[in-house]
Amino acid sequence: MSRLSARGLTLAYEDRVVVEDLDLAVPDGKVTVIVGPNACGKSTTLRALGRLLRPRSGSVVLDGEALSSLPTRRIAQAVGLLPQSPSAPEAITVADLVARGRQPHQHWWQQWSEADERAVVDAMARTSVSDLADRPVDALSGGQRQRVWIAMALAQDTDILLLDEPTTFLDIAHQVEVLDLVRRLNHERGRTVVAVLHDLNQAARYADHLVAMKSGRVVAEGPPSAIVTADLVHEVFGLDSIVIPDPITGSPLIVPTSPWTAPSGGCGTLRGELPDPPFHRSQGQP
Ligand SMILES: Nc1ncnc2c1ncn2[C@@H]1O[C@H](COP(=O)(O)OP(=O)(O)O)[C@@H](O)[C@H]1O
Ligand SMILES: [Mg+2]
Repeated sequence: MSRLSARGLTLAYEDRVVVEDLDLAVPDGKVTVIVGPNACGKSTTLRALGRLLRPRSGSVVLDGEALSSLPTRRIAQAVGLLPQSPSAPEAITVADLVARGRQPHQHWWQQWSEADERAVVDAMARTSVSDLADRPVDALSGGQRQRVWIAMALAQDTDILLLDEPTTFLDIAHQVEVLDLVRRLNHERGRTVVAVLHDLNQAARYADHLVAMKSGRVVAEGPPSAIVTADLVHEVFGLDSIVIPDPITGSPLIVPTSPWTAPSGGCGTLRGELPDPPFHRSQGQP
C-alpha cells in the first residue's frame, strides 16, 4: 500500500551519480524518516520524490503513474515538499508566503476561496505563527522562519508531505513541537509524511518506518525497534554506541560511547577529578 514509490531510481548532478538504483515504497498513512550521514543523498532523494529533480534513470511513481508523465498541478495537489533551504521572495509577509501554499488549489475562475482562507489560518495557528502574519519573512529569526515554511507546506493541504530537516534552526522545545505536529497531522488526517531528520534519536522516536541511507543507497529500512542496533549505527555513521530503550517511548535510544576526557594525571578536570601531584602522594610519608 504505497501511493508514492521510487523504482530503480538513479539520481545525478551532471555526471556525478549521487543515488543509485534506489527502491523505496513510502508506506501510506505512516511517518517515514530518512536518516544517514551528511551528503549521502537524502535531500536529493526527497527532491526527486517531489519532482524537483528529474531521475537519470528509473522513476518515481505516484498512484501508479510516473511523476514525469503527470501534470504539475496534480502532483502539487497530492505531494507537498518543504526543501532543506527554501528561499522566500524578498519582503514577502508571513501571511502571503503561507498563502502561496494554496496555489495548486486555485483556478482562474476563483482566485481565493473560503477554503483557501481557512487552510491558511489553520496552518498558521498550528505552527504558532499567527502573531507574525504581517511581518516580513526576512525579518524573522531562523526558527520562526522555519515554522512559516512548515505552515506553507501545511496550507497546501496534501495527502503526502515531504519535509527536509524541518527541525533545523529550531530550539529543542520547538523541535518537539514540530515533530508532535507532524505526528498529529499523520494521526488526525491520515497524512503520509516523509521527513529527513539529522537527529537519529528523534528519527527513532518519531518514525513508523525508518530508512537508513549511506552513499546513495538504502542500507536498512523498517520499524526503528526492528532495525536500529549498535551495528547499524556503526555501519551507517561509523560511530560506536550502545542502544537502549528510550525511557519514555521505549523506542531505540542511541548513546555514543566514550566521550573524550582528559587523561587522568593531566591538568584537565572534566570528570571533576583533581590532578594527582607527587606531594599529595608523599604526604604523611617519611
Ligand atoms: N545542486 C547540486 N549540484 C551538484 N551537486 C549537488 C547538488 N546538490 C547536492 N549535491 C551533492 O550531492 C551529494 C548528496 O547531497 P544531498 O542529497 O544534499 O545530501 P544529504 O541531504 O544527505 O546531506 C553531495 O555530495 C552534494 O554535494
Ligand atoms: Mg540534506
